Amino acid sequence: MCEIIDKKILHENLKQIVVKAPLVAKHANPGQFVIVMADEKGERIPITIADYDREEGTITLIFLEIGTSTKKLGTLEVGDKLYSLCGPLGNPSKIEKFGTVVCVGGGVGIASLYPIVRALKREGNRVISILGARTKSLLIMEKEISDYSDELMISTDDGSKGRKGFVTDVLRELIESGERIDHVIAVGPIPMMKAVSELTKKYRIKTTVSLNPIMVCGMGMCGACRVRVGNEIKFACVDGPEFDGHKVDFDNLMKRNQRFVEEEGISLVRYLDTQWKGEV
Ligand code: FES
Repeated sequence: MCEIIDKKILHENLKQIVVKAPLVAKHANPGQFVIVMADEKGERIPITIADYDREEGTITLIFLEIGTSTKKLGTLEVGDKLYSLCGPLGNPSKIEKFGTVVCVGGGVGIASLYPIVRALKREGNRVISILGARTKSLLIMEKEISDYSDELMISTDDGSKGRKGFVTDVLRELIESGERIDHVIAVGPIPMMKAVSELTKKYRIKTTVSLNPIMVCGMGMCGACRVRVGNEIKFACVDGPEFDGHKVDFDNLMKRNQRFVEEEGISLVRYLDTQWKGEV
């Protein structure tokens, strides 16, 4: 159980693993996540389920190596087992017949968007997907998302693919072209989801965002994932991870996600040092 049966390096620090987890695959739905530990001393890392195969009993996880724990996870190879895997957690995405839905994905958030796009299309929606990345080589799941989209638009910060600029530039043009949009779903970096929500608020288009705060338990017990939504405090792991983008306090979320930057930096330096000493 929890054995890695496939692994791909999508781009430098961006990795994809397929994990044998029949029970998780059986119950997983779009928008849900798992919490994994690479080893006994590793942190609990929340990762959205990018895909699941109920027949094969597998789930696909895509993650960016940014700190010690994700780097440790990235060292695991096919045949290795995760120390622990807990899920599926969080509420599934609300999938219904909205009409025309624009799905906006940025960076590694595109992986979380894929099962949502697929489910929305199967529900009979007209799906327009807008994917954005810093550069062409960081753009993931383009083919998969295109298969379930009526239209696919791309933007890169450096203009190496699609429109040069941000996903919000593409979305603004789409709205201003007069396209009727019934719902927007945005998954990606916090500044991106904030910008999308600010834009759609002006045009009164309902917008759902999937939040990615720091998490520990994933079950509503520790409070690490507290987010401000409207006048309420919510726990992203049990109340979310999806919320009304027009009500989320993104600045507070950004601040909370920065709380352990110094400790994370120290931990990463120590880990890389150990790795380096192990190699010489
Ligand atoms: S992660 Fe512990 S309460 Fe949400």
